[in-house]
This record gives sequence, C-alpha cells and structure tokens, in this order.
Amino acid sequence: RIVYVNGKFVPEEEARVSVFDRGFMFADGVYEVSSVLRGKLIENEGHMTRLRRSLSELSMQSPGTDDEIEAIQNRLITLNKLDEGLVYLQVTRGAADRDFIYPGENVKPTLVLFTQAKNVIDNPIAETGITVKTVADIRWARRDIKTVGLLAPCMAKMEAKAAGFSDAWMVEDGYVTEGSSNNAYIVTKEGTIVTRQVGNAILNGITRRAVLALAEKHNYKVEERLFTVEECYDAAEAFVTSATMFVQGVVKIDGAKLGDGKPGKITQQLRELYIEMAL
Ligand code: PDD
Repeated sequence: RIVYVNGKFVPEEEARVSVFDRGFMFADGVYEVSSVLRGKLIENEGHMTRLRRSLSELSMQSPGTDDEIEAIQNRLITLNKLDEGLVYLQVTRGAADRDFIYPGENVKPTLVLFTQAKNVIDNPIAETGITVKTVADIRWARRDIKTVGLLAPCMAKMEAKAAGFSDAWMVEDGYVTEGSSNNAYIVTKEGTIVTRQVGNAILNGITRRAVLALAEKHNYKVEERLFTVEECYDAAEAFVTSATMFVQGVVKIDGAKLGDGKPGKITQQLRELYIEMAL
C-alpha cells in the first residue's frame, strides 16, 4: 500500500514520522475519514469543511488548501486502486521539543493519508444489524473537534465487546451522546427519528447531516434533541451513521431487543436512500 507523508507518496514500510511529533506525544492532531465508492470520494466537501473547523478551533496551521488535499486523496485512491473503502487523513501540529505551549509558526504540520479497502455497501452486518451496550461517556468536553485523542472511545468499545456487544453508545447525565465512532439515533413507536442536537457534546457527523436531510425530504418527522437510555429501550428502531458504516441498524440496546430483532423499516429505507444518493 502506498501512503502519503509530508509531500511524499511512499510504500507504507518507508513512511516515517518523528518521535517528537505532537500527534504522538499530546494527541495534538485532527483527522477525517472520507468514504470511497467506485473510486470516488463521498461527501468530501463536508469533510474538508469540518477539517477546517477542527484546525481553526485548535489554532493549528493548515497543511494545504482543500483542492491540494483532495488531489492527494484522489492520487492515493488511484495509486492503491481503491474501489470501495475509505481515505484516512490526519494533521498534527508537527514535531517540536516537548512543551505544553504550542510551538511557533516555523514548526510545520504533519500530514499523513492512507487508504483502506472495505465493503461499505455489501456489508453482511447491514442485514443482521449491530448490538450496542450503553457505557459512561468519559471523553473530554470538546467532542465537536475531531481529534486523534481516541482512547476513551477505544475503552468504550472494548467494554462493549467484552460484554458481547458490537459497539458502545455513550451516555452522559442519563442522555445518549453518540456511538464510539458514529452518531446514534432512535425511531420512536410513532415513527419519529430522534438524534441528539449538535453542540460540543458530539461530533457533527457529515453522514448525519446528509441522512437527516434525506429523512426530511421523504417526510419523516425528525427531532434533534436529548434522548434517554429508557427511550432507547422503548424504541421501535435504532441506527447509527458514519462515513465508514453509512446507515447501520441497531437491533439490541443493552438487554432490550428492538422490533423483530432485524434492522427496522425506516432504518433500511434511509440506508437505501443514502446509498442511492452516494452512488
Ligand atoms: N468516525 N461521532 C464520532 C465520535 C465519530 O468518530 C464519527 C466518525 C461520527 C460520524 O461522523 P461522520 O458521519 O462524519 O463520519 C460521529 C470516523 C468514521 C472514525 O473515527 O473512523
């Protein structure tokens, strides 16, 4: 596999980043994951806009213009002959002597990109759905910034896995925030799609925005608000969205089985609508 590091396309074995890189020492970096279908980037403009926002919130230098970054993404897709999967991109503040204070402008950001093949559309999990365990959300208070500091969601997912679940939904003050690496939704028995409103408590998902727009276009009732774990147990359907899963049904939350134990009708329709739009 060819990867991109600071201006060069190299075989992954030859890719090097300094041990003094602030991404390594402080998790001082941000990232984006864009999906690829038939060799084409999906919703990449949204990912670029969010990258700009993450960089700006952390006063981090930009490694290039949107067009320059997109050219690197597309070059990697070509070099690795990627048909379906994702492009990962990471920007860190660069390599400098260890200091909590950000280094000056002379320290240039580190830019790393790689591709990963994955069956996003013909994923067998789309048929069966996933199970989720609710866990305490112990992440920091700026989850709107897409930083590489992902240990808390790793712990959440490990806790879920150890208990026999596919993923974790994180809970703060009794309300669901989001999944370990996706946005979380329930569909009430009345057919209303409910997901937490954006703010500092969750990542403003690019897939989330697209799926909510599709839902509204198709006359589903959407409520962006707090929802409790109890509401989850009582839901007719549930699902998650992300660039790597699109729309994925949730069939069990803790001990509560939803519907007939398969991804629900509204979930399936939203998945189909999203795929249709992306293709
Ligand atoms: N995760 N919430 C969190 C905490 C996430 O990490 C992600 C994405 C999302 C969904 O955002 P989007 O629809 O823009 O992908 C929500 C990526 C896929 C990851 O970390 O691999």
